[in-house]
Amino acid sequence: MKIILLGPPGAGKGTQAQLLVKNHGFHQVSTGDILREAVKNGTELGIKAKEYMDKGELVPDSIILELIEDVIYRQKSGEKNVIFDGFPRTVVQAEGLDKLLKKYSDKLDSAILLKVDNEELIKRLTSRRVCPECNTVYNLITSPPKKDELCDICGSKLIQREDDRPETVRNRLRVYRKQTEPLIEYYLKKEILKEVDASRSPQEVFTSVVRALKL
Ligand code: AP5
Repeated sequence: MKIILLGPPGAGKGTQAQLLVKNHGFHQVSTGDILREAVKNGTELGIKAKEYMDKGELVPDSIILELIEDVIYRQKSGEKNVIFDGFPRTVVQAEGLDKLLKKYSDKLDSAILLKVDNEELIKRLTSRRVCPECNTVYNLITSPPKKDELCDICGSKLIQREDDRPETVRNRLRVYRKQTEPLIEYYLKKEILKEVDASRSPQEVFTSVVRALKL
């Protein structure tokens, strides 16, 4: 099974993907996480990606498509149930994914659109904190750590993502509306789009996602 989680920054793609991993054994492919890891390790990919990510712009399609083929098929995880979190982000990426799936005799089952209004997105993103060591995601309002800004799992000091600063958040939302929103039409036409109201609690949203996927 191959599933896409679609939605604006802060809609809860990562949160829902994690719940699918934990409860239904999916393999999560988050292009954002892969790119952040590359930036942290100072790899060639990371150096290229950082200049786009810091401004809230999208990393070029050619880099992303190469990355996906590598992660999904060349590293032999092709047979697993995969959830794409944050990919595709443009029509070019969606078309590239279709080609890739065809090449490996694979197919896409569903695209889940997580819908949340702008005001809530800005609130969620600016209050998000992450653990730089184990990548656990927190929210100072809705899911704070037990001890003041320290990771519950490994005790590291939590940080704010560079691109979660208010000015960059606003640009990421603009970029989403312009470059990613056309994918709604793309997957509607393919008749695999399912919309979920993602403004409720993570668990309530998860119940709707599971229902939409008929898991
Ligand atoms: P990426 O990491 O993919 O960022 P994003 O799409 O902007 O999504 P986020 O991670 O910000 O949000 P999310 O929807 O996963 O929400 P989360 O669950 O964390 O990409 C970062 C950058 O990398 C891009 O800007 C781009 O430069 C580059 N990039 C990545 N993929 C690319 C691609 N394919 N092509 C080109 N460039 C690419 O939740 C957010 C917060 O809200 C958390 O604090 C969480 O605890 C909280 N929360 C979650 N759900 C709820 C809920 N239901 N109620 C209340 N709070 C909630």
